Amino acid sequence: MNTSKALINVLTGQMPERRPIWLMRQAGRYLPEYRELRRKAGSFLDLCYAPEWAAEVTLQPLRRFDLDAAILFSDILVVPHAMGLDLSFFENEGPRLQTVSDAAGVGALKTSGAFEQFDRVAETVGRVAGALDQGRALIGFCGAPWTVASYMIEGGSSDRGTARSIAVENPRWYADMIEKIVDVSVIYLKQQIQSGAEVIQIFDSWAGDLPPELLDRCVIEPISKIVVGVRSEYPGFPVIVFARGVGGDHPRIAKATGANAVSVEQGVRLSGILSGLEPGVAVQGNLDPGMLVQARPVLIDAVLGIVNEVPMQSHIFNLGHGIMQQTEPEAVEVLVNAVRAFDQGKD
Ligand code: CP3
Repeated sequence: MNTSKALINVLTGQMPERRPIWLMRQAGRYLPEYRELRRKAGSFLDLCYAPEWAAEVTLQPLRRFDLDAAILFSDILVVPHAMGLDLSFFENEGPRLQTVSDAAGVGALKTSGAFEQFDRVAETVGRVAGALDQGRALIGFCGAPWTVASYMIEGGSSDRGTARSIAVENPRWYADMIEKIVDVSVIYLKQQIQSGAEVIQIFDSWAGDLPPELLDRCVIEPISKIVVGVRSEYPGFPVIVFARGVGGDHPRIAKATGANAVSVEQGVRLSGILSGLEPGVAVQGNLDPGMLVQARPVLIDAVLGIVNEVPMQSHIFNLGHGIMQQTEPEAVEVLVNAVRAFDQGKD
């Protein structure tokens, strides 16, 4: 593939013109222009399902900062919502999702037909794809089955205690639910790709909850099925897997899922992960989001520590998790400038 997009280059094993940078949750409450549109929309979910506004929010961080990718503005809980579970978001409280706790609940989940929620998200993707500047890539996404299932079992933000017990006991209905999440996630991702997404990231935010013996069944197998499902229609499609918190298991997960890159949480040395990956597979990450609220010299030092460690053809600069709400937008500019200055200083 011949492209001038740095993110795609790194994901396809080619030399990029510069080190690609994007940040998880780069659109969001730390930006005043986001808060304004969010107010107009009424609720977070209304904003997600209003394509014109969701597209604008997706593009807001790229208007401010010299980033290499836009990530679709939506949420991982759109999938269970489309499967028929009631969903709402409350201010300062997070999501509230109708729960599933038995075989009857799993049986009632919708897995085929028209998904109105996906149509709206697809329209957002199309609008963003049509508006992106040259050189910038559009990332689509979904949640990984373990993380999505944990919200479906718990009904909101939690310590995932009940979800973990159920995963350990592995009742028939749990396995059936995971299978349904896989199937619907594949439908959702294909629709995003059809509408213009060029890369997919799969978010397993709670992968680090699981003991190693559960990683294969709960994290690796379902994510692999999603990747195979997507690539059956779009062979070789670029995929980033974010199994947050698995530490030394990232290389194994990359190999088993066929990911083009693994996103790595903070607190792990990227060079150590990179040396365990197959040739051509990249690392993404992994600045501590807390560094963006530190004094500028501390932030710059942390950024340089990361870029010094990994070559730009194998690295997508990002955070170890989402950007914090209290981040000053200017801190993001300092981050981007520090990465660019480092790479320019080297040639
Ligand atoms: O990265 C981006 O800019 C794209 C948009 C995006 C959002 N959520 C917007 C959002 C993405 C990729 C997500 C993924 C997501 N959603 C994850 C996986 C990544 C992660 O952070 O671990 C998870 C676990 C969710 C579920 C979710 N959504 C929770 C638990 C919450 C509440 C916590 C919070 O920060 O408020 C959300 C809400 C949410 N998703 C917001 C945004 C911008 C804040 C909503 C608001 O404006 O009030």
